[in-house]
Amino acid sequence: MKEQLSKIRTEALAAFSSAQTAAELDALRVQYLGKKGELTAVLKQMGRLSAEERPVMGQMANEVRTVLEQALEKTGARLEEAALEERLKAETVDVTVPGKAQKIGRKHPMYIALDEIKDIFVGMGFTVLDGPEIELATYNFDKLNAEEGHPSRDWSDTFYFDKDSRVMLRSQTSPMQVRAMETMELPIRIIAPGRVYRKDEVDATHSPMFHQVEGMVIDKGVTMADLKGTLNTVIEKLYGEGTVTRFRPHHFPFTEPSCEMDIQCHKCGGRGCPTCKGEGWIEVLGAGMIHPNVLRMSGIDPEEYSGWAFGMGLERMAMGRFKIADLRLIFENDVRFLEQF
Ligand code: PHE
Repeated sequence: MKEQLSKIRTEALAAFSSAQTAAELDALRVQYLGKKGELTAVLKQMGRLSAEERPVMGQMANEVRTVLEQALEKTGARLEEAALEERLKAETVDVTVPGKAQKIGRKHPMYIALDEIKDIFVGMGFTVLDGPEIELATYNFDKLNAEEGHPSRDWSDTFYFDKDSRVMLRSQTSPMQVRAMETMELPIRIIAPGRVYRKDEVDATHSPMFHQVEGMVIDKGVTMADLKGTLNTVIEKLYGEGTVTRFRPHHFPFTEPSCEMDIQCHKCGGRGCPTCKGEGWIEVLGAGMIHPNVLRMSGIDPEEYSGWAFGMGLERMAMGRFKIADLRLIFENDVRFLEQF
């Protein structure tokens, strides 16, 4: 039996080392170590041995098995490496074959404009805030001094989630004014860009979803002159020096006095064209001095502090910045349009 075992050992090792492929090696594994293999056949004869011989033979058989398994593993690894080497040689890349051009996307013009706007404000010491698009009417209206019955709260203008009109898609970024007042230390200088939603039909200047950038400053002694100065600086940085703006009186429940700012139409230079609907001016934002009620509701003393705020339409800013005539182009994402920026 001893001779049988050492014969298996020598034969198997020789066979393993001459194997050329993984399949061949596997066949050898079955032949020597498998359930019906040669080693098993020898072990089956153990019963015939005496009680003293049995453990000695058992140990020897185990040793042979270990040696063979190790040899299998080594040879297997060598074959695998050789096979990989072969494949790499066979599959060399022909670098002279013309490649397929990969189309790489680029930043959307509106986000180019937004990044520029953010840079300008950050450069003036503002912090950029992000806030929820699903908003409470408390923040979108109540704390902005637009009590029940205010026309902007109407069901025909606003997307509500509940029949009590308490939860909604924000219709403006102005709730971020309140969120900032409630959580930040004074003085405050923030901008808050984001999506807003209104029940508007789609046309060249309207969309039920659009973007605003809210801005707010609260400090001691802040005036309307600061508001105009800041906005004019921003507009000139965005559109170039000498860009003409005008401020018109307006009404918002949360600012007093309130105004709207127009920029001279970029398409016609103020003469009147379809883009500005013949007006010569394009309205880009609403603004004003924060109403004392709003400050008070958020725990700020209007006797001590004052502030201004604005909400600009981001699409309109981008349209002006890149001379885009139709708002729908911004949302359609036609590659032929986007490739131009
Ligand atoms: N929230 C107003 C709107 O959507 C704009 C605005 C913001 C006006 C801040 C004044 C101050 O029209």
